[in-house]
Amino acid sequence: MRAEDWDARYAERQQWSADPNALVAELLRDLPPGTAVDLAAGEGRHALWLAGRGWRVTAVDFSATGLARGQAQPGADRVTWVTADVTAWDAAPASADLVLVAYLHLPDPPMTDVLRRAVGWLRPGGRFLLLGHDVDNPTAGVGGPQDPAILHSTDRLAPVAELLDVDRLEQVTRGTPAGTALDTLLWGRRPAGPVGGRR
Ligand SMILES: C[S@@+](CC[C@H](N)C(=O)[O-])C[C@H]1O[C@@H](n2cnc3c(N)ncnc32)[C@H](O)[C@@H]1O
Repeated sequence: MRAEDWDARYAERQQWSADPNALVAELLRDLPPGTAVDLAAGEGRHALWLAGRGWRVTAVDFSATGLARGQAQPGADRVTWVTADVTAWDAAPASADLVLVAYLHLPDPPMTDVLRRAVGWLRPGGRFLLLGHDVDNPTAGVGGPQDPAILHSTDRLAPVAELLDVDRLEQVTRGTPAGTALDTLLWGRRPAGPVGGRR
């Protein structure tokens, strides 16, 4: 989908709950606050939740309409909101304590390149969290995009995982009112040394 399509979708109504995804909250809740990039932040539910916990968050999305909804929320002044295409945007290398990528779905290319570049924004030891719809979801889950070409899988994320010390790379379930959805989770940290310098 193009930025205009997302703008139209966000203009129609609020798309996501204001609460963070439960697994995102579970994994990030106990981290000490630092600097974070929320890539494809949408209406900013995660950026706002992190900011409320003391994080300095840069929320990036190409939908100005989505970001505007986040900017209107309490605590929005503690988030840096950036309207940009994630395929072109860059953060300073080795600067972030956390990169969060929740439900960003792009074809490949450019998906893997975007994610590998995003790992490079982490300081050594910094945390990488990707959560998104799994490639099995259209046939065995509920909701979400149906085009397998833009869905995640543990295999597709392998070139990103190889840059990280991985804690979890797996298919996970998510309860929804319509039934059980299938997501892919990549949760790891950047090792010491230059990204891509291993193997
Ligand atoms: C399903 S929403 C997820 C929003 C948010 N991460 C969340 O979990 O609530 C996907 C977001 O990706 C954004 N997006 C898709 N392609 C993008 C691109 N190339 N550059 C920037 N944002 C993009 C859309 O505008 C949309 O806000």
